[in-house]
Amino acid sequence: EKGNYRHFMQKEIFEQPTVVAQTLGSYLRQSDNSVALPQFDFDISAIKRVTIVACGTSYYAGMVAKYWFEQFARVPVDIDFASEFRYREPVLEDGGLALFISQSGETADTLAALRHCKAMGQTIGVVVNVPTSSMAREADLLLPTHAGPEIGVASTKAFTCQLAVLAALAAHMAVKKGLMTRAEEQEVVGHLLEAPAALNAALDHDDDIASMAHLIAPARDVLYLGRGPDYPLAMEGALKLKEISYIHAEGYASGEMKHGPIALIDEAVPVIVLAPSGPLFEKTVSNMEEVRARGGKIVLISDAEGLEEAGEGCLATIEMPRVHPLIAPLVYAIPVQLLAYHVACVKGTDVDQPRNLAKSVTVE
Ligand code: M6R
Repeated sequence: EKGNYRHFMQKEIFEQPTVVAQTLGSYLRQSDNSVALPQFDFDISAIKRVTIVACGTSYYAGMVAKYWFEQFARVPVDIDFASEFRYREPVLEDGGLALFISQSGETADTLAALRHCKAMGQTIGVVVNVPTSSMAREADLLLPTHAGPEIGVASTKAFTCQLAVLAALAAHMAVKKGLMTRAEEQEVVGHLLEAPAALNAALDHDDDIASMAHLIAPARDVLYLGRGPDYPLAMEGALKLKEISYIHAEGYASGEMKHGPIALIDEAVPVIVLAPSGPLFEKTVSNMEEVRARGGKIVLISDAEGLEEAGEGCLATIEMPRVHPLIAPLVYAIPVQLLAYHVACVKGTDVDQPRNLAKSVTVE
């Protein structure tokens, strides 16, 4: 039931602090700030390569996780859309972990890729929200997200819960490989446990986002820019906007702008910039200036410090809490979800059942 909410999507966006806390609670131990994954019957420290396969929003969660696996566990990561992976001839070496990410656990392309990897002798890891799904049944390593049923066709809470599980898994692998000291583990877990409160703080800006949605609603095209782990978030933001408001949107790596897409920039194309303050901030801001110099209208999403430095002259700004870079992708998911939601509401589209889309894509 929707309760006091207008749409399931809205309800699911607001559930995120609770369900992310639930999900983190089942993979992290708060008493001593350690990672506590279930026992598996293979040695995770021996994994030589991780192959991530997923579709849509789940794929973007995988893209964020690639940064974490590389950074923490120093393991090479390959990632692909399930529909592409299945029909190229992927080289799968022995000792690899093939990781499938899916809300429904029934997406046909992802399931076909899973069966292919299984036949090729890979260890099968599954991050899934529906515990009774086909993918859950076929996993060697089952990592459920505890987001609860997701009804809105646009995936929201499943995404942030997938990120929570994937961060815990990357940290676990790093610990097992001897690459993360006990003190580092405590620090990483401590930051992850800050996520629910930070998500709440992000949700506090719902009204600001609702009141600027009319600035975006008339656009025909919207660009989203981000760097590092915020690059997949830019693509996720664009996907959300396309799905429910039917506005054409693209997510780009900030540094790629000048290699082509900058040609699109004029006053009619809003550019949403995701730029938490941190090591990549200055670079993203200089890409933002390139857009501004060409008459582009910018919506800057950053924390107070970032907005103070670069917020002037923007069409609008959205303030996020200042967070550790590890949890920024979870926190910045909130404004892109809310922006898509409120723009769709301004346009009066069917938010929970957008045209041409199904919740679970069970055909290849
Ligand atoms: O159930 P899955 O996570 O496997 O679904 C994958 C995609 O179909 C899904 O994320 C889709 O892109 C959503 N509608 C995005 O909001």
